[in-house]
Amino acid sequence: LFVHSKALDELEYLHNTAVCVDKSGTIVAVESECDEARARETLFPRLGWEPNEVDVVCAREGQFFFPGFIDTHLHASQYPNVGIFGNSTLLDWLNTYTFPMEASLANLAKARRVYTRVIRKTLSHGTTCAAYYATVDVPSTNLLADLCFSHGQRALVGRVCMDQLSPDYYRDASPRDSVAATEQSIAHIRALDPDSHMDMSRALVRPVITPRFAPSCSAELLRSLGDLAAETNLPIQTHISENKPEIELVAKLFPEHESYAAVYDATGLLTDRTILAHAVHLTEKEADLVAQRGAKVSHCPCSNSALTSGACPVRWLLAKGVVCGLGTDMSGGYSPSVLEAARQAVLVSRHVAMGGGGDGDKLGVEEVLYLATRGGAEVVGLRGKVGGFEVGMEWDAQLIGLGMVADDGEDRAQQGEGQGGGEDDGDVDVFGWESWPERIAKWVFNGDDRNTKKVWVRGRLVHQRKGEW
Ligand code: GUN
Ligand code: FE
Repeated sequence: LFVHSKALDELEYLHNTAVCVDKSGTIVAVESECDEARARETLFPRLGWEPNEVDVVCAREGQFFFPGFIDTHLHASQYPNVGIFGNSTLLDWLNTYTFPMEASLANLAKARRVYTRVIRKTLSHGTTCAAYYATVDVPSTNLLADLCFSHGQRALVGRVCMDQLSPDYYRDASPRDSVAATEQSIAHIRALDPDSHMDMSRALVRPVITPRFAPSCSAELLRSLGDLAAETNLPIQTHISENKPEIELVAKLFPEHESYAAVYDATGLLTDRTILAHAVHLTEKEADLVAQRGAKVSHCPCSNSALTSGACPVRWLLAKGVVCGLGTDMSGGYSPSVLEAARQAVLVSRHVAMGGGGDGDKLGVEEVLYLATRGGAEVVGLRGKVGGFEVGMEWDAQLIGLGMVADDGEDRAQQGEGQGGGEDDGDVDVFGWESWPERIAKWVFNGDDRNTKKVWVRGRLVHQRKGEW
């Protein structure tokens, strides 16, 4: 079984299907009423494939393939702080927890330990593609890109730009220094992947221009980064309208602009390659501007609840035509899991509904899984390339096993014949009578990384849970 989003509110269930993947990791056939033997007997001769030129993927009974998750916003450099936020809110959280941790990763041995764990952890939760913020430091940022590349995780990696309202121990000395350091990092990341010189969208790891957020960037820096984005055609990521004091601060720092979104627009940073994290409190006019420019939103529900930033009206943004994906925003968010972000997106949408909205504000299982895959793909500039099972897309996928309750109700592993399986792996408790949409709902609300048995990026196996799957 292959499950993927067909539309925002519709999952498609491809039973008895074989997916064929070539050696470059591209899906070359999606064949219904087919298994591996049949594919090899009929499809291979018809399409002229050699036996070992193409792999055939089929799920076992009870398991299903799902597109890899796309985390459209997270800070690799904040990973050691997950869960540690006390009762802080954004601006004091940055000064208390965040800047000291990020600055400390200029120590490359420490950075290597932290980044290796983030990549392994997110892969184990099915994140095949991540839009990362690293730090201000160039070598530490480049190291993150190197590690994504060697672990096989698809990624956008950005050196964080900040030249004002930041501590002396952690900031760019000037706009010019900031741009020069950014260019150094871009050159390093571009050189990683030979494919990228032909076609940047082919690259596994791509650079992303990363002004931290308007308050920590001078107008000159924002403008210079906007110019750099126009010259290079690279993607951009930043934060917008996360909490009220931040918005007031932007109004005070940039009085010549009408709104937060207008600051980015005026400096060339509001483009169709821009990822805006949070967007919790946009005005109607700002949301219209974001939609008009084709900028994308990374919805980070765990973070917005943890830091009491607010409840983002995602349905309202979607209705305006704003493309949205999900972000964990570690460590504003406490979880490395996009599945957790999906679950929290469901709950936050209910708070929007209860807080003056209506039933129309609620997001369901289908919608949040769309945001986690197809929506995320569009947010990071990979629409049509990842996020679904279609010919021409790349094999970025996760194999999910939910475990099945045994006839006697005992909790034992469904697969694995005791090899590292065990009680842990039947956690979702499917009884067998549930429909597939019901099983998917059970996965969204009670599943976790124990259900993520294998993970592939561009056809390469990048994670496998202990045991036989
Ligand atoms: N705004 C500016 N920097 C950050 C950050 O690191 N995390 C979050 N959540 N918001 C920010
Ligand atoms: Fe963030």
